[in-house]
Amino acid sequence: MKANREMWGSKLGVILAVAGSAIGLGNFLRFPTQAVIHGGGAFLVPYFISLLLLGIPLMWMEWTIGRYGGGFGHGTAPGVFQSLWKKNRFIKYFGVIGIFGPLVILIYYTYIESWLLGYTFYSLTPKFQEALATGQIANFLSGYQGLEKNQFFSSLIPAYLFFLVTFFTNFAIISRGINKGVAKLCKVALPFLFVMGIILVIRILMIDGISTGFKFLWTPDFSMLKSAKVWLAAAGQVFFTLSVGIGVILTYSSYLKKTDDIVSSGLSSVATNEFAEIILGSSIIIPAAFLFFGGNATVEIAGSGAFNLSFVTMPIIFAKMKFGLFFAFIWFLLLFIAGITSSISLIQPSISFLEDEFDISHEKAVKIIGLFCFVLCHIPILFISKGVLGELDFWAGTFCLVLFATIEAFLFSWVFGINEAWKEIHHGATIGLPRIYKFIMKYVTPFFLLIILVNWIIQEGIPVILMHNVAPENKAYILMTRIVLLLIFFILVVMVKVAWRKRKLSSDS
Ligand code: PFF
Repeated sequence: MKANREMWGSKLGVILAVAGSAIGLGNFLRFPTQAVIHGGGAFLVPYFISLLLLGIPLMWMEWTIGRYGGGFGHGTAPGVFQSLWKKNRFIKYFGVIGIFGPLVILIYYTYIESWLLGYTFYSLTPKFQEALATGQIANFLSGYQGLEKNQFFSSLIPAYLFFLVTFFTNFAIISRGINKGVAKLCKVALPFLFVMGIILVIRILMIDGISTGFKFLWTPDFSMLKSAKVWLAAAGQVFFTLSVGIGVILTYSSYLKKTDDIVSSGLSSVATNEFAEIILGSSIIIPAAFLFFGGNATVEIAGSGAFNLSFVTMPIIFAKMKFGLFFAFIWFLLLFIAGITSSISLIQPSISFLEDEFDISHEKAVKIIGLFCFVLCHIPILFISKGVLGELDFWAGTFCLVLFATIEAFLFSWVFGINEAWKEIHHGATIGLPRIYKFIMKYVTPFFLLIILVNWIIQEGIPVILMHNVAPENKAYILMTRIVLLLIFFILVVMVKVAWRKRKLSSDS
C-alpha cells in the first residue's frame, strides 16, 4: 500500500473536479441527440425518473465506497470492492471493469475532444467560411475525419496534430496530480465554461421566433414512453452524463478524508451537471435546429450520426447570425473545455491503480499509462470508417456502465449492508439524506438496474454480439477491436492477481 496518498485540498476542489468529469461532451452533444431521437420533451420524463432513482443514489454510493476504500489505500474498484466484501476472493476481478471502462472510453473520447480543438481553430479560418458559404460543411467534417479527401483536407495530418496536442495536454494536467492538476484546472475551466454557455443561450434566445423551437422541447410526444428503448436510453444518458457507474467518481472520492461531507458535495456535483445539461445543453442545439430545419429534418439529422447536430448543424445555424463565426468559435471552445475536464478523470483510475497496487511513483505511472493509451488511441483514429468508434462506445460507454453500476449497487446495499452504508454516507455530513433514500438505495436502485441490464442484454446486447447491424466488410475490424478489448481486460485481470499475490506474500512474511 502506498504510504502517503495525495488528498483533496478543498471541498470546492473536489466538487468541481467531479462536476468537471460529469460536464462534458455528454451534456452538449449526446444529450440533445438522445432527446431529439427519443421523443423530445417526452425523453425528459424517463430522464428525470432515472436521475432520481438511479443517478443521484449512484453518485452518493460511489462517493461513499470510494472514500471507504481510500481509507484502506485503494483508489480503484478491485481494491474498493474487496474492502467492501472481504470474504469473497472473486469480487476484485469484477472491479477490473472500473479501470477497463474508463480506459476504453478515454481512447475514443480524447479523439473526439481533439476534433473540437481542431474546429475551434478552423472556425476562425477562411476555409471554414468557404465550407459554410458553399453548403459543404458536412464534407468539411468527413474531410477532417479522413473519411474522404476533398478540397478542405487531403490527409488526416491536421486531425492527427490536433489529437497530439489534446492527448499531451491531458497527460500534462494529470501528471501534476489531483490538486495542482485536476482541481486547479476545473476551478478555472468550469466558470469559464458556464460563462460561454450562458452567452450562447442568450444569443439563441434572441433569435426571432425561437419560441417555436422551444415548443418542441416542452411539447412531449408521450407515445414514445411505451418503448423500453426510450427508458434504456434515458438511464444510459444519466449514467454517462454523471460519470457514475464506471469507477471514475469512485477513484476521485478515494482521495477524500474520512470527515469530508459526501451528502452535500455529491448533490452539488449532480446539480452543477444538470444545470449544464438541462439548461445549457438542451437550450442551444434543440430549439435552434427546430426553428431553422423543422422537426422532421432535425430528428433525421440527429438519427444520422451522433456528431451531425453539433459539427454540421450548429455551424450552419451560427452562419445565419451576425458575428456567427465568433459564436461558432465559442461553441467549439466550450465543448473542448468541457471535454478536457472529463477526459482527465478517465485517465485517473489507471494511474491510481498502478500507484496504489504496485507502489509505482506518480511520474512513472503517468508515463506507462500515457504510452499504453497513446498506442490504443490509434484504433479509433485509423479505423473510424469501419465503425470502430461506435463499437468502443457500445462496450465501454453503455454496457460496462450498466453492468458496473448494478454490481456496485448490490455490493453497497446488500453486501456491505444498507445500515452500515447509511452510517458511512453520513460520516462528516452536515445535512442528512431524506430517509426515503434508504429504501430507494436498498430496493429501487439495484433492482431497477438489474431490470435495465437484463432488458438491455435481450434487446440490444444479443444482436450486437452477433454483429447483426455490422456491414460485412467491417466485420473483421469489429472482431479485431473486440479481441483487443478482451486482451486489455485480461491484462488487467492478471495484474490484479499479481498485485494481490504480492500483497499476500508481503503480509505473510
Ligand atoms: N460525463 C462525461 C460527459 O458527459 O461527457 C463523460 C464521462 C466521463 C463518462 C467520465 C464516464 C466517465 F467516467
